[in-house]
Amino acid sequence: MSSKDVHSDPVFMGRRQAARDRIDALTGAKGGDADDRLAWFHTVYKEANGDPAAVPWADLAPKAALTEWLANAPGTGLTAIDIGCGLGDNAEALSAAGYRTTAFDVSSDAVSWAKKRFPGSAVAYHAADLFDLPATWTAAFDLAHECYTIQALDGDLREKAVGSIASLVAPGGRLLLINRSRGEGVYADGPPWPLQPSEWRQFEHLGLELEDETLYEIQRQDRIIPHVRAVFRKPA
Ligand SMILES: C[S@@+](CC[C@H](N)C(=O)[O-])C[C@H]1O[C@@H](n2cnc3c(N)ncnc32)[C@H](O)[C@@H]1O
Repeated sequence: MSSKDVHSDPVFMGRRQAARDRIDALTGAKGGDADDRLAWFHTVYKEANGDPAAVPWADLAPKAALTEWLANAPGTGLTAIDIGCGLGDNAEALSAAGYRTTAFDVSSDAVSWAKKRFPGSAVAYHAADLFDLPATWTAAFDLAHECYTIQALDGDLREKAVGSIASLVAPGGRLLLINRSRGEGVYADGPPWPLQPSEWRQFEHLGLELEDETLYEIQRQDRIIPHVRAVFRKPA
């Protein structure tokens, strides 16, 4: 899977590298406790000051693994939620595929930025914390989409995130997970910390059934980055 992306723009990537050098030095950049990590995400968006090059994960396009999956999974009459929506591209793709889409991020700056990028969007954007979700979202969505949030978390936050994400899926609904992957037991010097099979399969321990698991690679200049796209179904 590949996508046309900002990674081939040398000027943009030059600004990104400069931003990385700065934000990698901030508290929480390498993990830390939940408060450190949350504060780091807030700071990244705030200090980006409107420049997407300064948000390391902002591709300014939906993930190809998502759009390719959506081509065979139209959302007419269905609801979706995008977790850790960042600047909104994946949420907009869900909406374009017909899903009545809610999207949230812990950073209110990210949410305001997404709204500004997509004026008139049908997506309901919210500032919300995955670890303190509104009660009305429990089991409320036909599709939950998780892209790159778990891999950005460290330690026991990961297992907590899996539980919170599973809680969003309605009976009969699906979870679409797109993250970097690594072999079981392979050391990761994150962030990001790619997911091991036992981590994404934790959703099965929470009662979701694995429908599909696709391992693929993304090529970036001199690197090949293993990924997983997994689809789970919550029994009706
Ligand atoms: C690596 S980025 C991925 C963004 C987007 N999903 C994408 O695919 O480009 C992780 C996102 O999760 C958000 N995030 C981190 N912790 C969160 C939390 N506890 N609740 C909600 N969002 C969170 C961050 O602010 C960030 O936008």
